[in-house]
Amino acid sequence: MKEKYQNLLLQVRGLADGETNAVGALTNITAAMRESFPERFFWVGFYVVNPDRTHLLLGPFQGPVACYRIKYGRGVCGTAWERNETIIVEDVEKFPGHIACSSLSRSEIVVPIRSEDGSVVAVLDIDSDRLDTFNETDKEWLEAIVKEIPIDFFTKIAAI
Ligand code: SME
Repeated sequence: MKEKYQNLLLQVRGLADGETNAVGALTNITAAMRESFPERFFWVGFYVVNPDRTHLLLGPFQGPVACYRIKYGRGVCGTAWERNETIIVEDVEKFPGHIACSSLSRSEIVVPIRSEDGSVVAVLDIDSDRLDTFNETDKEWLEAIVKEIPIDFFTKIAAI
C-alpha cells in the first residue's frame, strides 16, 4: 500500500504541476486515485466550500451519481469540515447523519483540504463498498497527497 501511495503522490504532483485547468486537473486527480485502488475506492471526489461558507458543493469525482450540496456540519463531509479533521467511518450505518448517495457505500474517509490560514476550502471524500476499508495509513497518505493540490483549484471551481 505504501508503494502505491508513493506513486500516487508523485502522480498527483505531476497532474497539478503548472496546470491552470482546475476542473480538468481535479478530475484527473480523482481518476488517478481510483485507478490506484480500484478494489478499495468505490467513489472518489471533491466537495468544495461555497463562497458563502454555508455548504459543500459537488466537485469533480469518479463513481456513481452523488448529491450536489451538503450543509456545514451535516453528513460525514460536513462534519469533517466543521471539525477541520479527517474522519474515518468503519460502517456508514453507524455514523449518525451519514448521507447515503449510493446504497452500496459501506465505509468512508473524508479529508479536509485547508488554505494557508488553516480554514477548510474543500474535502476529499472516498467511499468503499466494503466495511472497515480505511485506516491510519490511508489517513496519513491522503492528508499528504491533498497538500500537493494548489488551493486555487478549489476556490476557482467554488465560484463557477
Ligand atoms: N456520504 C457523504 C456524502 C457524499 S457521498 O458519499 C458521495 C456524507 O455523509 O457526507
